[in-house]
Amino acid sequence: MSGYKVPLCVTWVGGPTGHLRMVDQTLLPMRLLEIDLFDVEEVFEAIVSLRVRGAPAIGLAGAFGLLVALRNAVCQTTFQMQLQSAAIKLNSSRPTAVNLSWAIGRMLNCFEKSVRKRPFEEWHGLLLEEALKIQSEDHAMCMAMGDNGQALIQEGFGVLTHCNAGGLATASYGTALAMMYRAHEMGRNFRVFADETRPLLQGARLTAWELNQAGIPVTLICDNMAAQVMKEGKIQMVIVGADRIASNGDTANKIGTYGVACLAKVHNIPFYVAAPSSTFDLSLSDGSGIPIEQRKPSEVTEYHGQPIAPVGIGVYNPAFDVTPAHLIRGIITEKGRIEPVNSMNISNVLHKK
Ligand code: MRU
Repeated sequence: MSGYKVPLCVTWVGGPTGHLRMVDQTLLPMRLLEIDLFDVEEVFEAIVSLRVRGAPAIGLAGAFGLLVALRNAVCQTTFQMQLQSAAIKLNSSRPTAVNLSWAIGRMLNCFEKSVRKRPFEEWHGLLLEEALKIQSEDHAMCMAMGDNGQALIQEGFGVLTHCNAGGLATASYGTALAMMYRAHEMGRNFRVFADETRPLLQGARLTAWELNQAGIPVTLICDNMAAQVMKEGKIQMVIVGADRIASNGDTANKIGTYGVACLAKVHNIPFYVAAPSSTFDLSLSDGSGIPIEQRKPSEVTEYHGQPIAPVGIGVYNPAFDVTPAHLIRGIITEKGRIEPVNSMNISNVLHKK
């Protein structure tokens, strides 16, 4: 990870009744500020307002958020009540990224299957161990995705990405950006074109910032420039992250991703997705069942509190879209590459030991 020094987006501070610390991503790139969170309402607010965002990172915030909710639980009854109510609350914060319900489900399962059978004095510590395990596993999955996908980025390539699938969106290193960090570490020269990613500008504020920090050449473009940049021959591949992947490979990611995939198809450019196994939802046969988060109109009509559209104008603001599997050349996971993308290959790769 030479030169890449983005702080961990989510950290646990102190022992089993400690607290959660996170980078407030709404302030980037102007300020790199960490905030401390001591109750579950604060964690809920941080997820909803995208202080922490990106599918694996909100899973981590959810897992640690449960521990935040349990800080003051002094007996078994309050512990169990607070665990259940915090799980429901945090699960409702954002609907699309399956990593959130996956991580919360894993914590509840750990409690039911093993923690509750142990003496109460150990409960906080055992659940903290599970959350830290989720975090270290996510880190390992990012590193493995980087290794499994780096060879796709060849010398001299132009690589387009959308939104932020970097260290800020995961335990560290990222998913799509992990491939870039790894190729860069191996000495390959390439240039990333980062879509700004309206309305909340994760590409401009976060991806451009992260890649710049890492010394990877990056060019920022407005979302509506991608077709022209592709036509000019500047892009040889597209790599994006994912928020939820159905069992046939249909992939939900930041709004605008589907459009980029269509453009890539027209220009005969391979379109790849990088995602850990925790982002797959094999209970869904295809992408039509993926819940799409709807966000508030002011994200479209205002910028930093300043109106940029007529007051009261009608707005539609879905935060994600679904790219059909047939537009995706391959999916890079920690267990290997899924290519071509279909139910059988997904199942084979994900069930590898
Ligand atoms: O609304 P956001 O910023 O949470 O959306 C994030 C994305 O769409 C990312 O591309 C996705 O979560 C992959 S993160 C490795």
